Amino acid sequence: MRPALAETLARSSLFPRLAARLPIGRVGKVFYAFETTGSTQDEIRRLAEAGAPEGTLVVADHQTRGRGRQGRAWLDEPGSSLLLSLLLRPEIPAGTAPQLSLLAAVASADALTGATALPVGIRWPNDLEVRARKVGGILAEASATGEQVSHVVVGIGINVNQTRFPAALARPATSLALEVGRPLDREPLLEALVASLDRWYTRYVREGFAPVREGWCQASVTLGQPVDGGGVTGTAEDLDVDGALLVRTAAGARTRLVAGAFR
Ligand code: BTN
Repeated sequence: MRPALAETLARSSLFPRLAARLPIGRVGKVFYAFETTGSTQDEIRRLAEAGAPEGTLVVADHQTRGRGRQGRAWLDEPGSSLLLSLLLRPEIPAGTAPQLSLLAAVASADALTGATALPVGIRWPNDLEVRARKVGGILAEASATGEQVSHVVVGIGINVNQTRFPAALARPATSLALEVGRPLDREPLLEALVASLDRWYTRYVREGFAPVREGWCQASVTLGQPVDGGGVTGTAEDLDVDGALLVRTAAGARTRLVAGAFR
């Protein structure tokens, strides 16, 4: 078994102000902070399988095996990013699990825009970008029991203070610091992010997907733009009530693109 929360924090100077504020609503009754770990996703998965409660939060200063969507690696410079994973146990059908990754994107864009005044947009399904450069990403990994979701691990990586990026990235990258023109303190950003995740998730539990859908459409940089992926080429027109992207093809048909959420 992992060390108790107090022990973990006593050995770590990571984010002590956040630790003192937790839990924020549903998030962070259980909190682990690692100087270095393989992947916060794997830490949470282990905790989830051992019965950890909804809202369990794991953060790291550095990951040695961070992963992104579509089997890509997620690389970080130690001490420069926000790297976190959150355990959710929503009572929803398995087919609606991708809504949680859209929710995390909306909560992240909301928090980062509020904290930095930067125009943080969402590129389908859940990339976070500023001025057409990727500043963060979300990886939601769901598990189901039969037709119901048993848990979702929502992983978020935000480039905060990096000034250099690997040459061979799928899309041009940036960091919040590069965009605001000065280094940023990560802790207030993390606090804002956690509070926003709690707010948006609480709304989701009470009101369903509609508010998230509206938030996603407002922050989207994809709607009205050409899309080419998942076997679909056309123009993104809208987000469906269940979270699928509605795309108008060149032939005039409307087709649906669904974000993945299962490992
Ligand atoms: C993407 O844009 O491809 C998603 C990136 C998700 C990265 C985060 S960092 C914290 C968590 N742990 C991981 O290994 N991945 C996610």
